[in-house]
Amino acid sequence: MCAIQGNRGVVYTGPGKVEVQSIAFPELSLGNRACHHGVILKVVSTNICGSDQHMVRGRTTAPSGLVLGHEITGQIIECGRDVEFLKVGDIVSVPFNIACGRCRNCKEGKTGICLNVNPARPGAAYGYVDMGGWVGGQSEYVMVPYADFNLLKFPDPNQALEKIRDLTLLSDIFPTGFHGCVTAGVGPGSTVYIAGAGPVGLAAAASAQLLGAACVIVGDMNPERLAQARSFGCESIDLREDGSMEDKIEAILGEREVDAFVDCVGFEAHACGCNHGKEAPATVLNSAMQLTRAGGQIGIPGLYVTEDPGAADEAAKQGALSMRFGLGWAKSHSFHTGQCPVMKYHRPLMQAILFDKVQIAKAVNVQVISLDQAVQGYADFDGGVAKKFVIDPHGMVAA
Ligand SMILES: NC(=O)c1ccc[n+]([C@@H]2O[C@H](COP(=O)([O-])OP(=O)(O)OC[C@H]3O[C@@H](n4cnc5c(N)ncnc54)[C@H](O)[C@@H]3O)[C@@H](O)[C@H]2O)c1
Ligand SMILES: [Zn+2]
Ligand SMILES: [Zn+2]
Repeated sequence: MCAIQGNRGVVYTGPGKVEVQSIAFPELSLGNRACHHGVILKVVSTNICGSDQHMVRGRTTAPSGLVLGHEITGQIIECGRDVEFLKVGDIVSVPFNIACGRCRNCKEGKTGICLNVNPARPGAAYGYVDMGGWVGGQSEYVMVPYADFNLLKFPDPNQALEKIRDLTLLSDIFPTGFHGCVTAGVGPGSTVYIAGAGPVGLAAAASAQLLGAACVIVGDMNPERLAQARSFGCESIDLREDGSMEDKIEAILGEREVDAFVDCVGFEAHACGCNHGKEAPATVLNSAMQLTRAGGQIGIPGLYVTEDPGAADEAAKQGALSMRFGLGWAKSHSFHTGQCPVMKYHRPLMQAILFDKVQIAKAVNVQVISLDQAVQGYADFDGGVAKKFVIDPHGMVAA
């Protein structure tokens, strides 16, 4: 047993509200039984995600009292009896998906839809509504089960702390943006449209460049976020402006469609042009079918929900959207949805960071804050330039 007993974390207390509260120190247990395959981590860094904002905006059925946080990097302070290949002192990246490593889907590499970690549906995550009730890691300490299977150990702890602003993004948005591009078929010479210039969109744009895209166009209605995308070589489209999307794409590419389309917005999408203040949940999916070449692929990391209590109409409250699906069918599009299976990508993307092949923290504008600044971080998330807030609970990063 560990000598430390105190712990604090970011807790969702109702729509629009988060608080830093004292929470239980994690134990190596799953309900009533011991979790011998788990570890306890001292959290080195833990990021605020656009996905957390869906809950905090009251757009999900998240229960009050949920400890938030699914993007975790930590140092192991205690190992369960059956952890064989990790040890106390290792610094590790935690994939946001919790995966047993034993079920049919895990064996096929589909760790985002593990069958054994969430009684309600396939797939689980730390600190997230409908994702199994696991305690989140926007906290000082957290428990991670199935440690050997889930965790990515950084080769050198000192080097890891030096590059932590980049490595912290391996728990979610870098693999997620990369997966969006891979499933959209991005490769050398591709033309790519990324919908959304939030942290996931910016990570997808940097990923498209890493994959060799010829031209990456990012669309959003937030001018500061578009400027951030241009700062590392992307083209941009300001969706507040009226006019057809095809014309805007043609002005950049000389043709009216792209090879690959990545939706980094999800169900809280806004309409384009003069209606950009209004929500239109199917707008990005409809643009995807309109703007992607026949035979092209559409990556959809943006989140779509089965229940949206804050939706404008009854159908959208059940997650039913008004899509022109016939257009996608006629153009033989393929659509790739779901949680990113982080483990498919985190090791090669770690190597790309360690060997300076990508500047992902710069691309997504990482800002390091303390645990006590987390409440302000949630409040500031949406305004102005995209910031990827990284919480540093023990002052291990900021120095
Ligand atoms: N699939 C996964 O594994 C996974 C992982 C992480 C995040 N996500 C999801 O990815 C999405 C993006 O995350 P984020 O952190 O970047 O969120 P974010 O809220 O910061 O960014 C969304 C951006 O989309 C813009 N936007 C709204 N309507 C638009 C439209 N019609 N066209 C283009 N841009 C539009 C907004 O202005 C905003 O800048 C969220 O839905 C999040 O839940 C999914
Ligand atoms: Zn996330
Ligand atoms: Zn599994």
